Parts: sequence; C-alpha cells; structure tokens
Amino acid sequence: MNKKNILAGLALVAGLAMPSLAAASAGGEPPKHPAQGWPHEKIIGAHYDRAAAQRGFQIYKEVCHACHSLKLVSFRQLSGIGFSEPEIKAIAASFTVMGEPDPDTGEVAERPGKPFDYIPSPFANPEAAAASNNGAVPPDLSLMVKAREGGASYVDSLLSGYRDPTEEELKHVAGGKIPDGGYFNPYKAGHVIAMPPPLSDGIVTYTEGQPPATVEQMSYDVSTFLAWAAEPKLEERKRTGFFFVSFLLILCGLLFASYRRISKRVLGH
Ligand code: HEC
Repeated sequence: MNKKNILAGLALVAGLAMPSLAAASAGGEPPKHPAQGWPHEKIIGAHYDRAAAQRGFQIYKEVCHACHSLKLVSFRQLSGIGFSEPEIKAIAASFTVMGEPDPDTGEVAERPGKPFDYIPSPFANPEAAAASNNGAVPPDLSLMVKAREGGASYVDSLLSGYRDPTEEELKHVAGGKIPDGGYFNPYKAGHVIAMPPPLSDGIVTYTEGQPPATVEQMSYDVSTFLAWAAEPKLEERKRTGFFFVSFLLILCGLLFASYRRISKRVLGH
C-alpha cells in the first residue's frame, strides 16, 4: 500500500466515524452538538444515557404523543432503557389501546395497554392527524433520528432552536414571510416548520433528583430517547464491531510478526 492509499483509507475511516460532521444538513443550519457529545455516538464504549432516555420517554408521553405516533416501539421494549417490569406494566396501563376483536361480534373495544402492546397512535389515520394540525401530518417518530441528517443532534437543535427570524433571515424564507400555521426554525430545511414549538421550560415535571426541566435539557432527553427508539441495538452492534476490529488488528500483528520471522529464516533479512 503506498502513502496515498493509506491516507485515502484513513480519510474514509474518519468520514465513517463522524457521520454527524458530514451531515451539515440540506437547507437548514448545521445542527449543534451537545458540549459533551452524545454518549451513544462514541466510537468506544457507546451507550445510551438511560436516565436521559427515561426522562425523554416521559416527554414523549406527556408532550409529543399528543401529535406523534411511535409505531415501532412496544411497551415491553422500554426495558431497554432501564424500566423495570412493574414500571412497564404501569406505563402500559396508563395508555388506552384498541383490544382484540370480540370472537362473536367482531367488535373491537378499547382497553388499558399491556406490556406486549405497541404504543398507540394519537390519531386514527393521517387524515385525522392533518385535520388537527393545520393540514400538516406529524410524522411517526420511530425512525426519525435515522431519517434525518444530523440524527439526534438535528432533533435536539430543532426542538431547542425556535426563535424569531432576523430581517435578513426572513428574506430567505420562501415568500419573504412566515406563512399562517408556520413557525420559523433555522434548523429545518426551508426554515419554516408546521410544528408549534412543543417545549417550554417546566412543561413536564421531572421526579426529584433529576435536572431542572429546561428546554435544553428536555430536548436533549427526548432526542436521546428517540435515538434509542430508532436503534435499540446500537450498543450491541458497536460492541461487536469494536471486538471484531480489535481481533483483526491483533491478527494482523501476529501475521506480520510470523512473516518477519519466516522471511528472516528463509531469506536471511
Ligand atoms: C401540536 C402537535 C405537535 C406536537 C405536540 C409535537 N409535534 Fe412534532 N411535528 C408536528 C407537525 C405538524 C410536524 C410536521 C411539520 C412540518 O412538516 O412542517 C412535526 C414534525 C416533527 C419532526 C420532523 C421535523 C422534520 O425535519 O421534518 C420532529 C423531529 C418532531 N416533530 C419532533 C417532535 C417532538 C420530539 C415532540 C415532543 C417534544 C413533538 N414533535 C411535538 C406536530 C407536533
């Protein structure tokens, strides 16, 4: 391998390792990253901040769930962010879901959720969702962190980034003004979003011992939760990847050492 190839290889590895840097996003301001970074985006020892993810679930439940579904997450899976079995039972029971069809009449009645249920959607169908949201359909959040460039940082920046536009910024908004039912957000492509700012300081009450529920804290927490929802097996995947790469490196070292010994013996250098 010549020097150029090695450099190209290193650049590729660096590029793969830092997807969020490559993700200066389409049309919106590049997302801000939390000062300490995301524990789950670390290369070595990646893990979800479980306390943040649990608080994030609380925010999803009390705030976002008014508009957004999270179809791919079942209550049972919440054990992945550290909820215990009795906690999951209580969480499930606090939601109302559609039960199983009656064997005689086929009628479906509502019942309290059980751990095996999936989180129920707030609206029966997209038309009902649009009708309640000025014509815009709040997207399902299950894979949102994977679907947007910038991942958790994008969602975090978006939620905590609402503000009034400067005159200069307003000129770059399509039509030169914020349309009815729209809100300025510098991180959203096009800078206008149909979602009213969902968070305000203290909108949820965290249990004792948790940090104050500021907009910054809550958007960090709910973004951590949504990152977990989008990739619950990330920790396992990264751990396996790390062991595999370490194994390959050790194997390379051993092969090289034995090559040196053999070449010394056979060729004498
Ligand atoms: C009052 C209803 C409402 C609430 C509450 C709400 N949203 Fe939204 N959200 C919307 C609508 C409507 C859209 C679609 C916006 C658009 O397409 O312009 C949206 C879009 C989004 C998007 C996608 C943005 C993009 O890039 O397209 C994310 C992420 C999001 N919401 C996260 C959240 C989170 C997290 C919460 C809870 C903290 C939340 N939302 C609470 C209505 C809501």
